Amino acid sequence: MRIGIIGGSGLSESEVKKNSISVETPFGVPSSSYEVEYIDNKEILFLRRHGENHSIPPHKVNYKANIWGFNELSVNRIFGVFAVGSLHENITPGIIVIPDQIIDFTQGMRENTFYDGPKVVHIDFTNPFCEEMRNYLVDTANDMGIEIIKNGTYICINGPRLETAAEIKFYRSIGAEIIGMTLMPEASLAKELALCYAAVCVVVNYAAGISQNPLTVKEVVENMNKSLETIRLLIKKTTKALPHERNCYCKNVLKDASF
Ligand code: HPA
Repeated sequence: MRIGIIGGSGLSESEVKKNSISVETPFGVPSSSYEVEYIDNKEILFLRRHGENHSIPPHKVNYKANIWGFNELSVNRIFGVFAVGSLHENITPGIIVIPDQIIDFTQGMRENTFYDGPKVVHIDFTNPFCEEMRNYLVDTANDMGIEIIKNGTYICINGPRLETAAEIKFYRSIGAEIIGMTLMPEASLAKELALCYAAVCVVVNYAAGISQNPLTVKEVVENMNKSLETIRLLIKKTTKALPHERNCYCKNVLKDASF
C-alpha cells in the first residue's frame, strides 16, 4: 500500500533516512522528487508542492505532473496539506479543518484536466473528497485530542496576491469558510484518476478584513510551523489506521463518467 502526501517543505522533516524517486510524466516534471518513508508496512511518498526551495508559486505548480506522478508510482491515496486563511471569527488560527466542500475560483486559469479529448470525461465532483479518508482523519484527531473542525468549504483562488476585504466579504456570503491557493485543480485531478484524496488544512491567519491587521507571510509561516508536528502525527496515525483495501466510491468514479 502506497500513500502520498503533498505538502510544504517543512512537513517532510523526519529522522527516518529517505530515498527519493524522480519521475517524468507526459505533462512535464513534478514539483519535486517523491521522498520515500515507511510507517509500519505502508510506504509513504512525500511531494513538495512548491518545489525543493519553495520557488514555485501556486499558479505555476504543475498539478497534472504531480498527480500523474503519484499514479505512476501506484499511490492510490493522497493527503494534501494546506495553510489557509479563515473567513470566520470562530475558525481561529492554529485550528485544523478537514474540508468537505470546495468552491473553485481558478477555473479556466489553470490546466485542470487529464481529459482534453479525444476521450471526454465528466467526473462526478458532488463530494470532492474521499469520505473514508476524511472519516479516519477525524476519528484519529479525536482519539489524539486534537481540536479540529470536521467539515468546511475551502475556496480556492488563483493568487498569488491576497484578497481585498470586499472579496473576502463576497466569498463569505457564498459559503466559503477557509481560503487558499492550491487545492484546485489538485483535488479534481486526483479524482479524475480515481485516487482517494483528502485535505488537511491548517488555519494560519484571518483573511483580509476579518483581521484588522495587514497579512504578512511571516505570520503565515510562523503559524504553519507551530502546527507541523501535530499534522505530521495526525497523518502518521491516520495512515496506520487506514485499511489496506479502499472501501469508498473513489475507485469507481470513472465508471459512469464518460460517453
Ligand atoms: N488567502 C489566500 N490564501 C491563503 C491565505 C489567505 O488569507 N492564507 C493562507 N493561504
